[in-house]
Amino acid sequence: MVVSIRDVAAAAAVSVGTVSNVLNRPAKVAPATVERVQRAIEDLGFVRNDAARQLRVGRSRSIGLIVLDAANPFFTDVARGAEARADEAGMTVLLGNADEDPPREARYLDLFLEQRVNGVLITPTTEDVARLTRLRDAGTPVVLVDREMPGGGFSSVSVDDVEGGRLAASHLLSGGRRRLLFLGGPQSIRQVADRLEGARRAVDEVAGATLEVVEAPALTVLQGRAAGLEIVGRAADQRPDAIFAANDLLAVGAIQALSIMSGVRIPDDIALIGYDDIDFAASTTVPLSSIRQPASLIGYTAVDLLLQELDDAGSPAGSGHERNVRFQPELVVRESTTRV
Ligand code: RIB
Repeated sequence: MVVSIRDVAAAAAVSVGTVSNVLNRPAKVAPATVERVQRAIEDLGFVRNDAARQLRVGRSRSIGLIVLDAANPFFTDVARGAEARADEAGMTVLLGNADEDPPREARYLDLFLEQRVNGVLITPTTEDVARLTRLRDAGTPVVLVDREMPGGGFSSVSVDDVEGGRLAASHLLSGGRRRLLFLGGPQSIRQVADRLEGARRAVDEVAGATLEVVEAPALTVLQGRAAGLEIVGRAADQRPDAIFAANDLLAVGAIQALSIMSGVRIPDDIALIGYDDIDFAASTTVPLSSIRQPASLIGYTAVDLLLQELDDAGSPAGSGHERNVRFQPELVVRESTTRV
């Protein structure tokens, strides 16, 4: 037998409206009444029918979050921060993994539109924002996570990745390294392109310094290991004396290839720095220097911007009202660049 909201109201001796308030706006109901209704819900085994509610109010209680790579702990921390802020607003986060694949990202955007989510947070796989623009213009707020949109049009929460790239390369150069190698991912990912731009600016300021660019097909441990093995396969005078990996996963793979599989000494022979400062960067076989992004705060702030747009429906992004929050990257120095 399906238990209805009316059954709960009768069992708790309250109105259907009170049960609805307990479910959606518990702060508006006396604590004793909340407790009585929640006990009736548990005793009867009531499960709310969100589809019916969506039809009534036109929106689900959820927010869609599409990340570039769910296997990357950076995005796990972003999702945790987003959930924390969504929970404060009585909402839930539906997570989609684009896996750095634009068609897969598009399928998630279509799904979240069908699900009538309250809004979408996304780290886009490409610069093509036609789908995001349609979503926004159809009344679903979109907030970019971990990058801005040149020319505006969307609220965003990001880190200054050009400055982050400059910080990373400057740290290597200040340690006397001169043959730098940037180990990046697809240049279509703006974060990668910006980090490379920052590294180029730092290298251009140092006479005699060079920057080689290696573009891995994806920003993963496996691709970092493959790139590392290619590097150790070179003649010694063809190898870099420092590697700046576009994220920590690439750096972890490179450490495996250089240090574990080939006996290359880090940092003595080749210094190595990553980006994100994910939790296990500090506990890799050679503790990894990195450029820290406040991942959880990025996620929390992105949901906060989305909620502001929902509250401020009169001036949505795209009408010049977008809000852009940009955090500063932080250099974290460990043994992979500095012998202690
Ligand atoms: O997913 C690729 C990278 O982009 C992540 O490691 C994080 O740095 C994001 O900015």
